[in-house]
Amino acid sequence: MEKITRSVVKKDHAPKISGHSVYVADYPAEGVLCGKLLHANIARAKVLRVETPELPEGYFYVDAKDVPGDNNVNIVLDDTPVYCRGTVEYIGEPIAMLCGPDEAVVTRLRDACKVEYEELEPALDLRKATETFFDYRFGHGDVDKAFSEADRVYDEEFETGYQEQAYLETQGMMAEPEENGRMFVHGSSQCVYYIHGAVMRALGCGPDGVRVLQDVTGGGFGGKEDFPSILGCQVAVAARKCGKAVRCVLDRREDMEYTSKRHPSLCRYKVAVRDGKVTAMDIDVTLNAGAYSTLSAVVLQRGIIAAPGVYNVPNLRVHGRALKTNTAPCGAFRGFGAPQTFFAVEMMMDHIARDLGVEPLSFKEAHLVRQGDFTSTCGRYHFPVPLPAMIDKIDKACDYRKKRAEYAKPQTGRYRRGIGMSLCFHGAGFTGSGERDLIKAVAKLRKYRDGTVEILASNGDIGQGVRTTFPKIVAHELNLPLDKVYYQHPDTARVPDSGPTVASRSLMVVGELLRRAAIRLREQWADGEEQEVEERFKEPDFIIPFHIDKFEGDAYPTYAWAVNAIELEIDTYTGVAKALGAYGAFDVGTPVDYNVVMGQMEGGFLQGIGYASMEQMNYDDKGRIRNNSFSDYLIPTAKDVPNLYCTLHVEKYPDGPYGAKGAGELPLVGAPGAYLSAVEQALDGVALHHVPFTAEDTLSVMTKEAV
Ligand code: MOS
Repeated sequence: MEKITRSVVKKDHAPKISGHSVYVADYPAEGVLCGKLLHANIARAKVLRVETPELPEGYFYVDAKDVPGDNNVNIVLDDTPVYCRGTVEYIGEPIAMLCGPDEAVVTRLRDACKVEYEELEPALDLRKATETFFDYRFGHGDVDKAFSEADRVYDEEFETGYQEQAYLETQGMMAEPEENGRMFVHGSSQCVYYIHGAVMRALGCGPDGVRVLQDVTGGGFGGKEDFPSILGCQVAVAARKCGKAVRCVLDRREDMEYTSKRHPSLCRYKVAVRDGKVTAMDIDVTLNAGAYSTLSAVVLQRGIIAAPGVYNVPNLRVHGRALKTNTAPCGAFRGFGAPQTFFAVEMMMDHIARDLGVEPLSFKEAHLVRQGDFTSTCGRYHFPVPLPAMIDKIDKACDYRKKRAEYAKPQTGRYRRGIGMSLCFHGAGFTGSGERDLIKAVAKLRKYRDGTVEILASNGDIGQGVRTTFPKIVAHELNLPLDKVYYQHPDTARVPDSGPTVASRSLMVVGELLRRAAIRLREQWADGEEQEVEERFKEPDFIIPFHIDKFEGDAYPTYAWAVNAIELEIDTYTGVAKALGAYGAFDVGTPVDYNVVMGQMEGGFLQGIGYASMEQMNYDDKGRIRNNSFSDYLIPTAKDVPNLYCTLHVEKYPDGPYGAKGAGELPLVGAPGAYLSAVEQALDGVALHHVPFTAEDTLSVMTKEAV
């Protein structure tokens, strides 16, 4: 094991374990007003009037009229209002915030507000939705010709549901007017500079008018990529009006019903096969974006680029759309559009193989991309594709091929078994030229006279460990003990913009900037002096420039790879599937800390199994989400998959620190395909098309079969 891989105690281990970490909800309440949002309770309506109760001294009602700048939150397009602009577009849309010193009084005032609506017809059914936020097409080759020459054509549709990030700490932001007129905004978040840009715009001030700090954050998983910008604007506007600090922390029900989730999807795959090989795919991807566009453009881009999976498809046509429905806006969630399409393509390949009488794994192996091959967007897989070796590793770990053959034999008892495998990648870092053209990351090291070194960057630790791994890299290059290098929570008043904490980019992109900065600092090290070194992102030379208008070029500099197998046993009396084992081989390049990386792999894999099997969230015919608590929305625990085996394969990426690639999202992406393939086998080879696939779904399949 390389030295850098050897695990250390995480820098935030002790305060978190002891309970000393201060989350946004933990700051003393003295002098801070409590903010409670008044949410719309109709999916689509004109707001005619809000009748507010009489406000006691020191209590405030804040709405769109109080926004000093632009009442639009800066995200990608800026269609999300800070406070409702006259019509509400989903249940939960914030109409106003009630603020005051006593939480119980604020809640009572908020609940006493009467909103008079003129109801409008909401769009709730994705299949009938008519308003398109984003519509992309790309492809290559001659798809029509391939279909006309095919000896078999397959046409199937796959559906995925919501997934709630279910971070332990709910969304919460706080704004404090500073004496110098600056607005200080802090809270649970992933992207301090996103919030900074959004609040500047809402307050109508310059960059110096806002300061944003990340507080200790109890999990994000993507859920704190865009939402904190919205809530941050709301508390900042409220604090500006009240002239006092305002804090708004959502309760679990608000958080689950009204904040961003993974986009539900419909994916239709038409596949041409000739002489036992896939010759063309014609893919149609539809995402349910919810009421505002927020991050849907970029989620959709990643999803459709991944749509043909890890396979060579000589003729490809992809059409992707993100449609508006009158539901809470969907946003980022670990995998960012890719889990939806990888699920579809993996099931599709399984189904085709079985129809052809070929073992799915062999069929997939015959189509695998290799180093040097074109990607779906005519970029290149510049680096080795280690899938064959990883398949071997998993086969050895769980006897995959043998079990697969054994469980394929007819099963008749109460308990029936199945095992499934999926193959996937995750494009490391931002899609396309985002890193080069939009983010332009800058990171700094500051050495103090006493020889300690501070890292200045904007990436937040959301549990994934950058507070430890960044210092590890710098300490390693400077030959310093780890406690001489530190990384505080990013504060825009002190750190440059090294970009957001998203897209599995922090360690790979910013970690590399820090490594280079550390090498330069080492070279110019002068004892007893204060020194500063800065590094800026430079796109690697090998990149084929990406053109988003044509979806052409390298969408990602490199890829992380995964092979997952899941073995389960279904109780045909209850429909309950028990995971006998989940096996994952992951290539995320060099692990910069073994335990940190394994924590990501195990947690992400389990989160993906939850997505596939039990995490059910639906809205009713009024557009209201019903599963708004942890008793109605189940997520897996260690008990659900006791035998979780993860192993690493290392293909070094030359432009990541010590060969590290993006790691955070990959482990979730492949789980649904492996899971459902195992369910299909246990259920006698039935073809299934949706996740989550719950015990109820199993029973309904079995009942249908019995009829
Ligand atoms: Mo992440 S899902 O790119 O916040």
